[in-house]
Amino acid sequence: MEQTLILIKPDAIEKRLTGVILSRLEALGLDIAGAKVVCATEALLREHYANLKGTAFVDGVVKFMMGDYNHLPDHRLYAFVLRGENAIARVRAALGATNPEKADPWTLRGQFGCIKEGVMQNAVHASGSPQDAAREIALWFKPEEVLK
Ligand code: TYD
Repeated sequence: MEQTLILIKPDAIEKRLTGVILSRLEALGLDIAGAKVVCATEALLREHYANLKGTAFVDGVVKFMMGDYNHLPDHRLYAFVLRGENAIARVRAALGATNPEKADPWTLRGQFGCIKEGVMQNAVHASGSPQDAAREIALWFKPEEVLK
Protein backbone atom coordinates (compact mmCIF):
# COMPACT_ATOMS: atom_id res chain seq x y z
CA MET A 1 0.00 0.00 0.00
CA GLU A 2 1.42 3.38 -1.01
CA GLN A 3 1.46 6.57 1.03
CA THR A 4 1.62 10.10 -0.34
CA LEU A 5 2.03 13.54 1.23
CA ILE A 6 -0.65 16.12 0.51
CA LEU A 7 -0.35 19.82 1.36
CA ILE A 8 -3.35 22.11 1.05
CA LYS A 9 -1.78 25.36 -0.14
CA PRO A 10 -2.67 28.90 1.04
CA ASP A 11 -4.78 29.76 -2.03
CA ALA A 12 -7.04 26.76 -1.38
CA ILE A 13 -7.18 27.45 2.36
CA GLU A 14 -8.20 31.05 1.69
CA LYS A 15 -10.98 29.90 -0.67
CA ARG A 16 -12.18 27.29 1.90
CA LEU A 17 -11.52 24.46 -0.56
CA THR A 18 -9.91 22.03 1.89
CA GLY A 19 -13.03 19.89 2.30
CA VAL A 20 -13.71 19.83 -1.44
CA ILE A 21 -10.16 18.73 -2.24
CA LEU A 22 -10.09 16.10 0.51
CA SER A 23 -13.44 14.67 -0.49
CA ARG A 24 -12.28 14.30 -4.10
CA LEU A 25 -9.16 12.47 -2.94
CA GLU A 26 -11.07 10.32 -0.43
CA ALA A 27 -13.45 9.35 -3.25
CA LEU A 28 -10.50 7.67 -4.99
CA GLY A 29 -10.76 5.11 -2.18
CA LEU A 30 -7.80 6.51 -0.25
CA ASP A 31 -7.54 6.53 3.54
CA ILE A 32 -6.32 9.42 5.68
CA ALA A 33 -3.37 8.06 7.66
CA GLY A 34 -2.14 11.41 9.02
CA ALA A 35 -3.56 14.93 9.34
CA LYS A 36 -2.30 18.17 10.88
CA VAL A 37 -2.22 21.96 10.73
CA VAL A 38 1.34 23.19 10.24
CA CYS A 39 2.62 26.74 10.59
CA ALA A 40 5.40 26.25 8.08
CA THR A 41 8.78 27.93 8.49
CA GLU A 42 10.83 29.15 5.56
CA ALA A 43 13.47 26.52 6.42
CA LEU A 44 10.92 23.69 6.25
CA LEU A 45 9.59 24.92 2.89
CA ARG A 46 13.08 25.29 1.41
CA GLU A 47 13.83 21.73 2.51
CA HIS A 48 10.52 20.51 1.05
CA TYR A 49 11.31 22.24 -2.26
CA ALA A 50 15.03 21.33 -2.28
CA ASN A 51 14.55 20.15 -5.91
CA LEU A 52 13.76 23.75 -6.93
CA LYS A 53 16.97 25.19 -5.43
CA GLY A 54 18.66 27.53 -7.90
CA THR A 55 15.55 28.14 -10.02
CA ALA A 56 14.33 31.67 -10.72
CA PHE A 57 10.96 30.95 -9.11
CA VAL A 58 11.86 29.19 -5.84
CA ASP A 59 11.72 32.38 -3.73
CA GLY A 60 8.25 33.18 -5.08
CA VAL A 61 7.08 29.64 -4.37
CA VAL A 62 8.33 29.79 -0.77
CA LYS A 63 6.69 33.21 -0.26
CA PHE A 64 3.44 31.86 -1.67
CA MET A 65 3.58 28.77 0.55
CA MET A 66 4.07 31.08 3.58
CA GLY A 67 0.80 32.79 2.69
CA ASP A 68 2.31 36.09 1.52
CA TYR A 69 0.03 36.32 -1.53
CA ASN A 70 -3.15 35.33 0.28
CA HIS A 71 -5.20 36.76 3.10
CA LEU A 72 -4.43 34.44 5.96
CA PRO A 73 -3.67 35.43 9.56
CA ASP A 74 -0.72 33.02 9.85
CA HIS A 75 1.56 30.67 7.89
CA ARG A 76 -0.72 27.69 8.09
CA LEU A 77 -0.81 24.77 5.70
CA TYR A 78 -2.85 21.59 6.08
CA ALA A 79 -0.80 18.41 5.72
CA PHE A 80 -2.18 14.93 5.13
CA VAL A 81 -0.82 11.46 4.53
CA LEU A 82 -3.15 9.53 2.24
CA ARG A 83 -2.72 5.85 1.57
CA GLY A 84 -4.06 3.24 -0.81
CA GLU A 85 -3.18 1.15 -3.84
CA ASN A 86 -1.17 3.21 -6.34
CA ALA A 87 -1.97 6.33 -4.29
CA ILE A 88 0.89 8.46 -5.65
CA ALA A 89 0.00 8.22 -9.34
CA ARG A 90 -3.75 8.35 -8.75
CA VAL A 91 -3.54 11.50 -6.62
CA ARG A 92 -1.23 13.18 -9.15
CA ALA A 93 -3.73 12.37 -11.91
CA ALA A 94 -6.52 13.93 -9.83
CA LEU A 95 -4.38 17.07 -9.32
CA GLY A 96 -3.51 17.56 -13.00
CA ALA A 97 -0.49 19.39 -14.40
CA THR A 98 1.75 21.62 -12.28
CA ASN A 99 0.79 24.67 -14.36
CA PRO A 100 -2.88 25.31 -13.54
CA GLU A 101 -3.39 27.03 -16.90
CA LYS A 102 -2.34 23.80 -18.63
CA ALA A 103 -4.04 21.36 -16.26
CA ASP A 104 -7.14 19.62 -17.61
CA PRO A 105 -10.19 21.61 -16.54
CA TRP A 106 -11.73 18.75 -14.54
CA THR A 107 -8.62 18.29 -12.36
CA LEU A 108 -8.15 19.98 -8.99
CA ARG A 109 -5.42 22.31 -10.26
CA GLY A 110 -7.32 22.98 -13.50
CA GLN A 111 -10.45 23.86 -11.55
CA PHE A 112 -9.02 25.76 -8.61
CA GLY A 113 -5.50 26.94 -9.55
CA CYS A 114 -4.33 30.21 -11.09
CA ILE A 115 -1.09 32.10 -11.78
CA LYS A 116 -0.56 35.39 -9.95
CA GLU A 117 2.55 37.58 -10.00
CA GLY A 118 4.33 34.80 -11.92
CA VAL A 119 3.76 32.22 -9.18
CA MET A 120 1.63 29.17 -9.76
CA GLN A 121 -1.05 29.05 -7.08
CA ASN A 122 -2.07 25.46 -7.72
CA ALA A 123 -4.10 24.66 -4.62
CA VAL A 124 -2.52 21.38 -3.56
CA HIS A 125 0.78 19.54 -3.42
CA ALA A 126 1.12 15.77 -3.74
CA SER A 127 4.29 13.67 -3.78
CA GLY A 128 5.58 12.82 -7.25
CA SER A 129 7.29 9.46 -6.61
CA PRO A 130 7.71 6.86 -3.85
CA GLN A 131 11.13 8.36 -3.02
CA ASP A 132 9.66 11.86 -2.74
CA ALA A 133 6.76 10.55 -0.66
CA ALA A 134 9.06 8.87 1.87
CA ARG A 135 11.24 11.99 2.14
CA GLU A 136 8.30 14.39 2.39
CA ILE A 137 6.31 12.35 4.93
CA ALA A 138 9.41 12.15 7.15
CA LEU A 139 9.86 15.92 6.79
CA TRP A 140 6.28 16.92 7.72
CA PHE A 141 5.26 14.14 10.14
CA LYS A 142 6.80 12.37 13.11
CA PRO A 143 6.55 8.56 12.77
CA GLU A 144 3.98 8.36 15.59
CA GLU A 145 1.71 10.85 13.82
CA VAL A 146 1.08 8.49 10.89
CA LEU A 147 -1.05 5.34 11.19
CA LYS A 148 0.87 2.11 10.64
P1 TYD B 1 7.36 21.07 -9.02
O1 TYD B 1 7.90 20.25 -7.87
O2 TYD B 1 8.13 21.09 -10.31
O3 TYD B 1 5.86 20.63 -9.40
P2 TYD B 1 4.71 19.83 -8.61
O4 TYD B 1 4.16 20.71 -7.53
O5 TYD B 1 3.67 19.55 -9.67
O6 TYD B 1 5.34 18.57 -8.07
O7 TYD B 1 7.21 22.59 -8.54
C1 TYD B 1 6.79 22.90 -7.23
C2 TYD B 1 5.88 24.11 -7.26
O8 TYD B 1 6.58 25.24 -7.78
C3 TYD B 1 4.70 23.94 -8.21
O9 TYD B 1 3.61 23.30 -7.56
C4 TYD B 1 4.36 25.35 -8.58
C5 TYD B 1 5.69 26.07 -8.49
N1 TYD B 1 6.26 26.35 -9.84
C6 TYD B 1 6.22 27.64 -10.35
O10 TYD B 1 5.70 28.57 -9.68
N2 TYD B 1 6.78 27.88 -11.58
C7 TYD B 1 7.32 26.88 -12.33
O11 TYD B 1 7.80 27.15 -13.47
C8 TYD B 1 7.34 25.55 -11.81
C9 TYD B 1 7.94 24.39 -12.61
C10 TYD B 1 6.80 25.31 -10.55
